[in-house]
Amino acid sequence: MDKITVIGAGNVGATCANVIAQKDLAKEVVIVDIKEGIAEGKALDIWQTAPIMHFNTRVKGVTNDYLATKGSGVIVITSGLPRKPGMSRDDLIKTNAGIVKEVTEKAIKYSPDAIIIVVSNPLDVMTYAAFLASNKPSQKVFGMAGTLDTGRYRAFIANALEVLPNDIHALLMGGHGDTMVPLPRYTSVNGIPVTQLLGQDELDKIVERTKKGGGELVNLMGTSAWYAPGAAAAQMVEAIVDDQKRIIPVCAKLNGEYGLKDVYLGVPVKLGKNGIEEIIEIDLNKEEKKLLTTSSDSVKSVMKVLDDMKLF
Ligand code: NAI
Ligand code: 2OP
Repeated sequence: MDKITVIGAGNVGATCANVIAQKDLAKEVVIVDIKEGIAEGKALDIWQTAPIMHFNTRVKGVTNDYLATKGSGVIVITSGLPRKPGMSRDDLIKTNAGIVKEVTEKAIKYSPDAIIIVVSNPLDVMTYAAFLASNKPSQKVFGMAGTLDTGRYRAFIANALEVLPNDIHALLMGGHGDTMVPLPRYTSVNGIPVTQLLGQDELDKIVERTKKGGGELVNLMGTSAWYAPGAAAAQMVEAIVDDQKRIIPVCAKLNGEYGLKDVYLGVPVKLGKNGIEEIIEIDLNKEEKKLLTTSSDSVKSVMKVLDDMKLF
């Protein structure tokens, strides 16, 4: 791919751009920020690792200069406030909705064919905001949360079993919040169902810790996480750039799948060069369906807050 844009040169955006560059996913990655000098500085710093880490992707930073992003194939949106201790992701909507709208409109003007990956919180609703602002088909506008949340879930299971995290295969659905739905029935260690390796109590604790995984880090650091979020967004970029057809949970607009409509929610999809190439519907039991519906209701209530803001 010729160019990838990352909007927001903060913790998540810079980490994402760094992983994109280290994986050589494009000829150029452009980082945009509103704060004078920050994107330029971080881009220069990342670029100076090229001879050390052996990559060729050029890294450019700009302050609000969207012309430099022209012709991007993928745009990753990370601009906006992160959580502070005591805040929920939903508390961010008033500030971040305006930011996501503005940056989407500006970026899409120069890259009308780009696929948009949203990272800003509250994730599901900011993805909806980018969808409204971009006027693009929903297969090309989606959000990153499931890769991160599944990463946390897999890491906790790997710790509990003392095995390689990469050998844990897992699925997690729903919104990026306390109502997310980790699915132990769809979790295995290289094919062995995790339910045969861990007791119910331990699994329940891991599921609870995963749901509050973002908050755990906010409490430790005073701001939200960035290494895993940045890497997770870059992994989605890679699936698109290399047309990998990976099946991963992505925040996607549902149109009747799982009996849910007009809501952005985490579901397994096939991700390739065209964006979301298929939403995969797996069998859920009654309890899992109920949890997914509760999560959808929670996201819909925040979508309504956005609708009531009358930004669109
Ligand atoms: P940060 O504060 O380190 O960086 C945000 C950057 O956005 C700042 O550099 C700021 O100057 C920039 N910005 C603000 N308004 C802008 C505008 N109009 N145009 C361009 N840049 C603008 O925050 P961090 O930690 O990087 O988090 C970014 C967002 O990602 C937050 O909303 C956070 O909650 C969210 N997040 C989402 C995750 C997910 O799983 N979806 C995981 C982690 C964070
Ligand atoms: C996270 O889950 C806060 O969404 C951010 O780390």
